[in-house]
Amino acid sequence: MTPIRIALIGTGTVGGGLLRVLARNQEEIMRRAGRGIVVARIGARDVVKARRAVGPVSGPDLPIDDDLHAVATDPSIEIVVELIGGIVDARRLVLAAIGAGKHVVTANKALLALHGNEIFAAAQARGVMVAFEAAVAGGIPIIKALREGLTANRVEWIAGIINGTSNFILSSMRDSGASFASALAEAQALGYAESDPTFDIEGTDAAHKLSILSAIAFGIPMQFERAYTEGISQLTADDIRYAEELGYRIKLLGISRRVEVGESNEEGRAVGIELRVHPTLIPARRLLANVEGVMNAILVKGDAVGPTLYYGAGAGAEPTASAVVADLVDVTRLHTADPEHRVPHLAFQPDALSSTPILPIAEVRTAYYLRLRVADQPGVLADITRILADGGISIGAMLQKEPEAGTSATDIIMLTHGTIEKRVDAAIVRIEALATALSAVTRIRVEDLA
Ligand code: HSE
Repeated sequence: MTPIRIALIGTGTVGGGLLRVLARNQEEIMRRAGRGIVVARIGARDVVKARRAVGPVSGPDLPIDDDLHAVATDPSIEIVVELIGGIVDARRLVLAAIGAGKHVVTANKALLALHGNEIFAAAQARGVMVAFEAAVAGGIPIIKALREGLTANRVEWIAGIINGTSNFILSSMRDSGASFASALAEAQALGYAESDPTFDIEGTDAAHKLSILSAIAFGIPMQFERAYTEGISQLTADDIRYAEELGYRIKLLGISRRVEVGESNEEGRAVGIELRVHPTLIPARRLLANVEGVMNAILVKGDAVGPTLYYGAGAGAEPTASAVVADLVDVTRLHTADPEHRVPHLAFQPDALSSTPILPIAEVRTAYYLRLRVADQPGVLADITRILADGGISIGAMLQKEPEAGTSATDIIMLTHGTIEKRVDAAIVRIEALATALSAVTRIRVEDLA
């Protein structure tokens, strides 16, 4: 059988890894796919740079072209691999490839989080596949697991460490007591964080990935714009240390959960979906708490299977290429199947997606770590606990430090039991208004993940 012809657009780190893995494992890949997979042409904005980057693997004869639209719509090509990144050009190229009847493989989580609904609808209408295993957690086959392996289950929740850069920074802050700024500088020096690390450290990258996971897990459209996103840039070494003292670790988690909300009526209780990325205290004994450095891990709780955990490299040339090649093999195996017999893009049939609403963060129920700096004088603690009691917020644990020598200010740290976020918002406003409150309240959400 003739090999399937693919066009690769983008020759950065992952593109280079893809060419290497395809070349090194071509025989095994062919035995799995049933036919060869060849990169027949490459699209790159800078042809000279691309030739330098991929020439040693691809050889001098592979055509490299800067007319990306022509590459994406080449009639001799069956699968377009989009690894160019960014949003505007990538969207245009992916839609052009779909319009020309190509299957698409992409690692672009931002593109799918923002335009996935449009892209999947276009692919559905044209009868082509869009595969995106590499878009979430690099080499970990979490899309495959959620979309196929767990189809028997009603997924109850997902909690994942899905940004390696921020996990590296948090591990480094914990290991060495470093400040956020110096841990970020270390991540940049090692090449983990981008020179503009905003998407990684402010939770945006994780929210892109979580939006994709939650759509597949719960059968809802992609809703990145409704995700609550908070990053790690405000965390202090003190918070990490206090969390340790209380038996917790702080991780940047993406959490999506199906919850019952409101009063029950004859149809039962209404259902909502939590979709949130934020620093989270988790018990130090949980496996997820021990995922260190740039590694990723995703915990999925299904009603039948119980908790399942997926761990591995969330980025890097060959780990991500591993996911891209897996998609290429899938597409190669399935491209002659009737479109209706393929796995739906979002696991659920397109006409069976539900409109379950995403809950605003104020309506989310969770527990909290609260840290406040107060004047160390009689009645301070009583004032704070009165405010929490007024809000129906129950305290689970408390830590107070002796004032540092020569000062009369002290840190009070409290862990609350589960409560609705808006009650904590209201209590924080009142606590910060106390004359004895010397700083804003630091609030970090706590998840047991039991
Ligand atoms: N920047 C991402 C991370 C990797 O740090 O995990 C690509 O998604």
